[in-house]
Amino acid sequence: MSSTPDNSKKSPQGRPTDAATLLKTVLAENVRTKPERLKVIIDSLVKHLHAFALDTELTYEELYVGLDFLNKVGKATGPEKDEAILLSDVLGLSTLVQLQDAKRIIEHGGTEPGLIGPFWRANHPVLPSGASVCVSHNTGPKLEVAVKVIDLEGKPISNAIVDAWQASPTGFYENQDPEQADMNLRGRFITDATGSFTFWTVRPAGYPIPIDGPVGVLLEHQERNPMRPAHIHFIAIAQGYRVLSTQIFDEADPHIDTDVVFGAVGSLVRKLSPHPKDPQSLYLEVSITLEPGETRVPKPPID
Ligand SMILES: [Fe+2]
Repeated sequence: MSSTPDNSKKSPQGRPTDAATLLKTVLAENVRTKPERLKVIIDSLVKHLHAFALDTELTYEELYVGLDFLNKVGKATGPEKDEAILLSDVLGLSTLVQLQDAKRIIEHGGTEPGLIGPFWRANHPVLPSGASVCVSHNTGPKLEVAVKVIDLEGKPISNAIVDAWQASPTGFYENQDPEQADMNLRGRFITDATGSFTFWTVRPAGYPIPIDGPVGVLLEHQERNPMRPAHIHFIAIAQGYRVLSTQIFDEADPHIDTDVVFGAVGSLVRKLSPHPKDPQSLYLEVSITLEPGETRVPKPPID
């Protein structure tokens, strides 16, 4: 049974009389918070929220609109869609946190991380190097992708598991599209002794994020385009290394500079070159750098 904290032992904080003393009083109520990391996060959150309300001279009516919006985000979240992640994405917060999380890799010149997104599936078919991920007939130019997984020193990592997945040339993942066969444009590969593998696919197309919820209403107010530029997803898993997910973007996509989730950053934007052996096809080299650490594999959002 949990016991009520004994407030009589608290040092007197006085009664808040203005913004500064109110902030001090609220922060004083956070000093006992455990674990320490939660205390640090709540401290900073309270300081920034108070500063934000002061900075914008937020009215009570506006606060109510904002809280109602957050309630709607919660209600729009279900097994098919996570509206809270979508909100974090369109505000650039998800990309910011990912870039911060992978700063060691970026300092070493490695490929930046990218959002896993909602379309990664468990149990991608395991394919040999050189295989095609095209199960259905896919229109558009063929594309060969050569992947190499390396460590911070540039040494190859063998036996890494790499999942690759993408939308079709019509802008749909196979699980969204009854026209496509199960697991079309998805594959799982194991790196060889040189940390490498290749596969064949087709040029992907961009697609819009879901705009049927409160995040869509926000985008409308902001007069923003809901499109994501064409990309291929990768997630690399190797024992003794931190898991890295990333996305490689097609530089030629018309929405490359207006990715609605701000994921098309730095070296992730790439030119699909003509294939050296087959001028009708395209070619892409992808290098994935992993840093040593705990191998925590996230749960795929879809089975
Ligand atoms: Fe995607």
